[in-house]
Amino acid sequence: MLRGKKILVGVSGGIAAYKSAEVVSRLRKLGAEVHVAMTKGATEFIAPLTLRTLSMNPVHVEMFEEPKRWNVEHIALAEHVDAVLVAPATANLLAKMAVGIADDFLSTVLLATRAPIFVAPAMNHAMFHHSATQQNLETLRTRSVRVIGPDTGFQACGTDGDGRMSEPVEIVKILVDFLTSSKLLEGKKALVTAGGTQEPLDPVRYLGNRSSGRMGYAIAQALQEAGAETILVSAPTDLPVPHEVKRISVMTAQEMHDAVLEQFPKMDVVIKAAAVADYRPKENASQKIKKQGTSLWVELVPNPDILAELGKIKSTQILVGFAAETENLIANAQDKMRRKNVDMLVANDVTRPGSGFGSFTNSVSFLFPDGRRIDLPQMNKLEVARHLRDEIAGLLGVTKE
Ligand code: PMT
Repeated sequence: MLRGKKILVGVSGGIAAYKSAEVVSRLRKLGAEVHVAMTKGATEFIAPLTLRTLSMNPVHVEMFEEPKRWNVEHIALAEHVDAVLVAPATANLLAKMAVGIADDFLSTVLLATRAPIFVAPAMNHAMFHHSATQQNLETLRTRSVRVIGPDTGFQACGTDGDGRMSEPVEIVKILVDFLTSSKLLEGKKALVTAGGTQEPLDPVRYLGNRSSGRMGYAIAQALQEAGAETILVSAPTDLPVPHEVKRISVMTAQEMHDAVLEQFPKMDVVIKAAAVADYRPKENASQKIKKQGTSLWVELVPNPDILAELGKIKSTQILVGFAAETENLIANAQDKMRRKNVDMLVANDVTRPGSGFGSFTNSVSFLFPDGRRIDLPQMNKLEVARHLRDEIAGLLGVTKE
């Protein structure tokens, strides 16, 4: 199942380190190429020799050990793995990840990699519930790190509670699910729009909105994870382009319109998460508008409605729209779904705290023309994106093996 996949297993210094041997062994048996990086503390609990033998690869501990190949090893590993799993992840390692400390081989790879990262925390229950650890986990989640467990039960320190590392079989199952779903949309072409368009008033000013682009970027990442060839048509944002996604940068609604329409005939899926300005200033002054004593009148003219246009010309494409609403969420969203002729609509109540523009989380409902409706609880935008991706896969008629 994992043939052709490269996985880096990071092991930090806790009693559960002995279970990493089973994790490595299971991954190898499934055909994965496994590399191991241990913290110095981890080597007190389990010998590198054990993990070297099970992984059939050299084990990395020190940053400045004699190189095994000519290249910069921590960077080479960081760039070439399909996933990184840290099991066990101690409170100390999670804290280092949260603030970006890179003071040994493992923490340096974790900072350098753009591959998906999974952590399986393992620690005493009081350490797990400490607000520092909880905040660190929250920070990591907002950066798309996936947290596995921990479980509840008897702990090495003699108490009962949360903090036991999840069982290796469970950890490996989650990794397998993730790495095999990466085939779900293989061969499909997807386009996502993201961010808020900027409509110039003069050389230094524009009309804009509060979209950060996070929702659209998360969707592009989720589609790419599932193997879709993904294009992001993005209004200005500071966000990094997700791994292996192609970005086309635009500024105005008209530019977004032109870029999307050019790509549309080649696409299997188009998702319009961008906040597109409905109007633009009629005039874009060639010089900075000077302050005047009186009111300033700016005439606005309508922009093209990109989604509605796509709804009119679509043939085989799955078209997904968003509706950002401040009142009558479902009724307004259903109306948009019909008017714009989309196959699925994501209704977004942008007045809820932690939802909509600029937030890391979102709470949305999925609406379908056949009357189906799915209400998701508030969750990280990447998790919303993965739910959305799985629904789209269903609409395309592809399901997990
Ligand atoms: O970027 P974030 O900070 O993460 O915030 C995410 C978000 C709130 C921007 C996102 O979740 C969202 O709701 N996006 C849609 C915003 C929007 O403009 O909604 P709307 O109801 O005005 O538009 C309806 C649909 O028509 C949208 O799919 C929009 O992309 C599209 N549209 C709108 C106007 C226009 N001229 N052309 C369009 O294609």
